[in-house]
Amino acid sequence: MKIRPSLTELEEYRPGELIEGAIKLSSNENPLGTSRRVIRAIVEEIESGKLKLSMYPWSGEEAELKNAIAAYLGVDADRIVIGAGIDGVLDTLVRIFIGEGDEGVIPVPTFSLYESLIKIAGGRPRYVNRDRGKNFSVSVDAVTGACNARTRMIFLASPNNPTGNSIPEDDVRAIATSVPEALVVIDEAYVEFAPHSSMVKLVQEQDGNIVVLRTFSKAFALAGLRVGYAVVPSWLTGIYKRVALPFSVNRVAISAAIAALSDLEHLRNTIELVREGREFLYRHLQPLFHVLPSDANFVLVDVSPAKSHAVYKALLRAGIVVRDCSSFRGAGDSFIRITVGTAEQNARVVNAMKHIYDVMM
Ligand SMILES: Cc1ncc(COP(=O)(O)O)c(C=O)c1O
Repeated sequence: MKIRPSLTELEEYRPGELIEGAIKLSSNENPLGTSRRVIRAIVEEIESGKLKLSMYPWSGEEAELKNAIAAYLGVDADRIVIGAGIDGVLDTLVRIFIGEGDEGVIPVPTFSLYESLIKIAGGRPRYVNRDRGKNFSVSVDAVTGACNARTRMIFLASPNNPTGNSIPEDDVRAIATSVPEALVVIDEAYVEFAPHSSMVKLVQEQDGNIVVLRTFSKAFALAGLRVGYAVVPSWLTGIYKRVALPFSVNRVAISAAIAALSDLEHLRNTIELVREGREFLYRHLQPLFHVLPSDANFVLVDVSPAKSHAVYKALLRAGIVVRDCSSFRGAGDSFIRITVGTAEQNARVVNAMKHIYDVMM
């Protein structure tokens, strides 16, 4: 049997590892876990028969979720589209915009799914290097310079994974204005942890070629249920609904997301814990290694002259799983990414890293 030639070199998505008995700080998940109120709400809904698992999701539930998201963000509900995580939303967007030979511009290192989806669609990723000397910031000129008549999409994660830095709103405006034929995708998976606000208002105000992606996986602690959404310009909602798979967000996920939006206390506690933990990691690791300033729920650490894989293995022996970033295109072989954990987990990370520093450096 023949598969499409463009798929033969595709690499499998490598998620952060989960190792029995070790602390998992490799997938940027929520250190507090899912809110008890959310768990109680879905269990009660299922047990009472209000939430019937035997029935397909219906439009009323989706509308309720979109209304709740709209109220949380302060934008119109008819601008919101949903999917199975940001991953699901990205999949639909790429299927709308990328055909055979079309290009998508990706400043690297970044989240690897962008390039995979472009390749699956038969398109060509065009990589632009982020500026390593400036904490991996994105150059507007480099991005616009990489665009041509075949460019359909530009992918900007902000805060970016794995570097943790954000792109200024003015730079997004400049890129969107200079390449009006391309969709500028702002992936804000981690924006709740950032000191600045989201760019969702910009989408509504500009109503042109900018979309903002958001998720319930990180700050809302629902990664296992797969719920994400995008705020899109008005012209995009109709085609999005026609292309997206029907029922891609399941009933339990919709119900949990609605409950999570009514428990903003858990969100505030999460953000506070992450900001404190991030500061703690920065303060204690920076004297040993170069730690990049982060707006997200993880920190990127340059362990050079050691290799990231050696430090990854040493942390594993100490019972801590982090992300060896050598698998990220353009990241080199000296970065590890550590998810901010609970205070106790962060203290274990610092102790282990001090030991590694003493032994390896
Ligand atoms: C930048 C970025 N976007 C999107 C995702 C995936 O989000 P979701 O769980 O909503 O699919 C991740 C996951 O780590 C990420 O780092």
